[in-house]
Amino acid sequence: MEGLNPFSLSGKSILITGASSGIGRQIALSCAEMEASLYVSGRNVNRLQDTLDSLSTHSGCHHKLLVADLTHSDEVNNLVAAVEPLDGAVLCSGIGLTLPVKFASQDKFKEVFETNFFSQVELVRLLYKAKKLKASASVVFLDSIGGTHDISAGAIVYGTSKAALLSATKYCALEFSHRLIRVNCICPGMVETPLIHRGTVTEEQLHADMMRYPLKRYGRPEDIAYMAVYLLSDAASWVTGQDFVIDGGISL
Ligand SMILES: NC(=O)c1ccc[n+]([C@@H]2O[C@H](COP(=O)([O-])OP(=O)(O)OC[C@H]3O[C@@H](n4cnc5c(N)ncnc54)[C@H](OP(=O)(O)O)[C@@H]3O)[C@@H](O)[C@H]2O)c1
Repeated sequence: MEGLNPFSLSGKSILITGASSGIGRQIALSCAEMEASLYVSGRNVNRLQDTLDSLSTHSGCHHKLLVADLTHSDEVNNLVAAVEPLDGAVLCSGIGLTLPVKFASQDKFKEVFETNFFSQVELVRLLYKAKKLKASASVVFLDSIGGTHDISAGAIVYGTSKAALLSATKYCALEFSHRLIRVNCICPGMVETPLIHRGTVTEEQLHADMMRYPLKRYGRPEDIAYMAVYLLSDAASWVTGQDFVIDGGISL
């Protein structure tokens, strides 16, 4: 009966970037549970190895670790060369930054866009060009409600980088449809990961912010991983070019 489950990832080969931490790590764990074979990628080799060691291995599954800083073009090229043609790619690498508009200088935009936008689109462009995305492959970008569904003070740099990524999702979806490749993005609200505890926001401010959420909590990495599993699976084979908000209702 297993082969009849449209949500199964059995037999699929999937690349997950940002797999050394937070949402990307959980997506790797959930995809492995659903019987995918994975390439897990990130910069920090120790944390990446922790992810690899935590992955369940069903029979016929093989997991590999690929260290790469995606802002370095030679490392992106090496990563593209190292992977066999993929059934899916989930791009979770990203950085945050909170700054009021008056301090949002061009170098801050460049730094964040380099990681959150340029390196994402470049990796997908090269995978597509090198035919490392099989026909019917699924690409999932980790976007955000910031910049589109939610406009908060201090988020101009991060939010615009994610708004650009949401737009790019739709262009890639349209052009890649010639090979029946699907491209979607997930737009979470605040999710409990190391990312939200870095920077200038205090734990008290985070708690007060959490209470504004209609469902009275921040997201858990699993809340996002289940959507990624769906988008990677054959159950989503008629879904492309969309942005999926998962935010406990904060953008209502
Ligand atoms: N947490 C949230 O509230 C939230 C909300 C909405 C959207 N998101 C988005 O979800 C994604 C994952 O965030 P997270 O919360 O899981 O963050 P996280 O725990 O800080 O993890 C970020 C990941 O990105 C990787 N990374 C950063 N810069 C990189 C680079 N130059 N090259 C390669 N990898 C790089 C990190 O690798 P190393 O650790 O190995 O350096 C790490 O694996 C991000 O795109 C983020 O914008 C998060």
